[in-house]
Amino acid sequence: MKVKAIQPDNNSKTLKLIDQRILPVKLEFFLCKSSQDCSDSIRTMIVRGAPAIGITAIFGAYFAWIESNCEKEFFDKCQNIKKARPTAVNLMWAIDKAIDYYKKIKNNSINDISQKLWDYAVDMLKEDISINENIGKHGVEITKSGMSILTHCNAGALATGGYGTALGVIRSAWKKHKNIKVFVDETRPYLQGSRLTAWEMHEEKIPYTMICDNMAAFFMGRNEIDMVVTGADRIALNGDSANKIGTYGVAILAAFHKIPFYIAAPKSTFDTSIHTGKEIPIEFREPEEVRSIGGKNITFEECNILNPSFDVTPAELITGIITEEGIIKAPYTENIKKLFKMR
Ligand code: MRU
Repeated sequence: MKVKAIQPDNNSKTLKLIDQRILPVKLEFFLCKSSQDCSDSIRTMIVRGAPAIGITAIFGAYFAWIESNCEKEFFDKCQNIKKARPTAVNLMWAIDKAIDYYKKIKNNSINDISQKLWDYAVDMLKEDISINENIGKHGVEITKSGMSILTHCNAGALATGGYGTALGVIRSAWKKHKNIKVFVDETRPYLQGSRLTAWEMHEEKIPYTMICDNMAAFFMGRNEIDMVVTGADRIALNGDSANKIGTYGVAILAAFHKIPFYIAAPKSTFDTSIHTGKEIPIEFREPEEVRSIGGKNITFEECNILNPSFDVTPAELITGIITEEGIIKAPYTENIKKLFKMR
């Protein structure tokens, strides 16, 4: 696997991130040396994608510990990292995991706690890769030789510790069949599809075709798409799933054309504290992202713009959710409760 978005350096205890704002024009890195660097890199989209945000946040918790003079300061800094972006629940999940782990080891010496928190972050990065490989292993079971798969946004190695969730399924399908076709939605306005997914596919030598978001119906109508798979940022107890803006539209199109629509996501993307997608906080981003493409305005300065970054696909449009432990299908509430051993 060539693409590594998150690269910890054990000697210098720093975190190198691929700067995803400037891909694919340039491959440059951003060095995180503090908790502020980690939260800034999440907020400004140097690193993005739910699991990658979570892992960066765990390294942020390590830096927060190093910077803090007391436990309260450490907790406050951790809570601050949680505020970097609102929708991907992996961010909150990751900080809670780091704090829980700290509580278990807090009786060690300060130096030992530091080393253990660093090692924990490195382990979580490794674990995420193996979780994605397992998502790929389960997901490949629903793929067939010669099929054509559409994906939206980037749910690949760049968006995770490595391998990817939706792109993990596609990678595994490519390894198995070698003859699948991949359609990549460009994913307006931030262009995660055209800039990031297409680049990842190119780097990994997996053939793909990029289309504009408004072309999906055209290809579905011509029976040229057999399956859709996307990632998720937060999945409610009833299976409603938030993902990149436009996913909901793709799911409606897939339902109309009777094409299976799958979400691929780790357990860390489920928020079992909320019952439906209505409770998922949706990030609204700067109008400038919509106003311009590649730094060039495509409308006038005064144009009124809204820029919701995510939408929620209702569970009834989702054929299945591919997790590291298998594929969940309706009835979602019942089966998600089983996954989390809830009553
Ligand atoms: O705004 P982004 O680029 O962070 O949004 C990313 C997505 O919507 C992904 O599909 C999702 O986080 C899953 S990544 C495995």
